[in-house]
Amino acid sequence: MFLTFEGIEGSGKSTQLRRLAERIPNAVITKEPGGTPLADRIRAILLDSSSQLDPNAELFLFAASRRQNVIEVIKPALARGAVVLCDRFTDSTLAYQGFGRLINLDQLRTLNAWATDSLTPDLTLIFDLPEEVGLNRARSRNAEAVSDEGRFEAEDLRFHRRVREGYRTLAVSEPNRFAVIDGEGEVDEVFARVVAEVTKRTELLR
Ligand code: TYD
Repeated sequence: MFLTFEGIEGSGKSTQLRRLAERIPNAVITKEPGGTPLADRIRAILLDSSSQLDPNAELFLFAASRRQNVIEVIKPALARGAVVLCDRFTDSTLAYQGFGRLINLDQLRTLNAWATDSLTPDLTLIFDLPEEVGLNRARSRNAEAVSDEGRFEAEDLRFHRRVREGYRTLAVSEPNRFAVIDGEGEVDEVFARVVAEVTKRTELLR
């Protein structure tokens, strides 16, 4: 079983992922960009605000990071029968590079399929909240962080609004795979929504 967690900056998905993993005995946690030592090096380039990245070069780095993670971590774990929880996956590319940077969605889908051997999540949780709320959370967190991972937080509100709308559009197009979760409120409240959706759609928490 392969679950992915999606949403704009500061949507709370990473916190919710960790909470859910505590309830699933054979959970394997991973994230993108990153997830392997090599992909973590790619991540550093992608998120460093001093990187002057061309949009297509950015896209290819996300794809390269994803490929390493799929081959080294996700596929072997699924083959062992583990439940894999991944913080961001192919839908981040559609939302950020597609709806955010306006790269052609069909080309992105082709690249995603290439990078993953067409691996598709069984369930994708999208944490939805107003972009102002998410960005404020993300920026205050980033101000405290030691490493500089602010390149996407530095994008303007319109960019993040397009990303949010992009996720909502994706969710409408594939309602069986996506569950949109209201990300506003306290961690416990949001987690109760996560548990409800995961219980409704999978056997994991039964
Ligand atoms: P991350 O620290 O994981 O952000 P968050 O804490 O919000 O999850 O940084 C990942 C950033 O990279 C985030 O801004 C979204 C962006 N991203 C893309 O633009 N495309 C992608 O395919 C992926 C995986 C991430």
